[in-house]
Amino acid sequence: MKEDFYIDPDICKAYTLPADVYTKQKYADMLRHKVFLPSWQWLGGKEYLSAPHTQIPHTFLPGCIDEPLLLVRHQEHLSCLSNVCTHRAKILVESPTSKPLISCSYHGRCFHTDGRFRSMPEFEDTQDFPTPKDDLKKYPLLSWKNFFFVALQPKYDIDTILSPIQKHLGSFPFSSLEAEPTLHKTYHIKANWLAYCDNYLEGFHIPYVHPALNKAITYEDYEVRVFDHCNVQIARCKPGQKPVPLQPGDPDFGQNIFAYYWFVYPNLMLNFYHWGISVNWVIPKSIHETEVRFLTYKRKDIPESDFADTALDLTETEDEAVVESVQKGLMSEAYQRGRFSPTREQGVHAFHRYLYTEVFADSENIAP
Ligand code: FES
Ligand SMILES: [Fe+2]
Repeated sequence: MKEDFYIDPDICKAYTLPADVYTKQKYADMLRHKVFLPSWQWLGGKEYLSAPHTQIPHTFLPGCIDEPLLLVRHQEHLSCLSNVCTHRAKILVESPTSKPLISCSYHGRCFHTDGRFRSMPEFEDTQDFPTPKDDLKKYPLLSWKNFFFVALQPKYDIDTILSPIQKHLGSFPFSSLEAEPTLHKTYHIKANWLAYCDNYLEGFHIPYVHPALNKAITYEDYEVRVFDHCNVQIARCKPGQKPVPLQPGDPDFGQNIFAYYWFVYPNLMLNFYHWGISVNWVIPKSIHETEVRFLTYKRKDIPESDFADTALDLTETEDEAVVESVQKGLMSEAYQRGRFSPTREQGVHAFHRYLYTEVFADSENIAP
């Protein structure tokens, strides 16, 4: 019954999503179709524009959707095509290259780098050929603040969803950010991606789980602001901590913000610190496995000595342990659904509301 999945808009009345959603294959499949197929996904930053090659193969959500894509760069412009040959479906580009055309190594079909069919041997007698179906499919790609997002079948406008970030951080020095690949890390977590996101979406656990982080921020005025498919947690500095740079006109100008933890539905976290941005890109691998890519973008307009991400690794390890423990608990026959703290879990509640609305509200036959 879909009522079993109902998330009341009133946090004081609401129950969390049922444990089955985190533990049963049927719901993982449902989320894959209803959450990830229509989603916008993180691609990376302006490092693509300085990459040595102009054709870069990319997989849309590896291990979850696995759509083969091809990123094509024309000077400062990036576009996204299908990486599947329209003849008999061979992957076209297996490793980065800078060839002037896109050519298939199976039977020699060729495409222009904008995806248009160009040539095919031994097809002179094939009727009604070529047609637009023989071109490579083009996918939407968005450039936002020097970062790129890509979608297969987008159901919503990512620009609108990201606009609260722009409003809060209008003066943030995005253009000075540079990727630091040596600091990028991948974590493998033995838990469902939803449990990872739930944990990210509340600071309620900070005093219990993150003693070091708790010494850097003030827990009393930790704040959550909820927007459409996007929300932010705001942690303020204890004395001695460096704040996120803000200017007059930014809504929190004058306050010492330790971090903005932005969650962008369904699986992206953009964490703003004084030294730059840490991105967590959450990739569901199976019901019990999640991969999280931590990507570091450092500001180049501040001294190197101002950079301090040492606590991020510790915080992540602490989070991982608790999320893996939650996954075991979700498997218990004793646990069905929980409740929310109205003062501390607004972000988790908003996430469950997004999921209810996107996945369960219009679904029939979803009885466990
Ligand atoms: S599959 Fe590409 S040319 Fe045949
Ligand atoms: Fe945490």
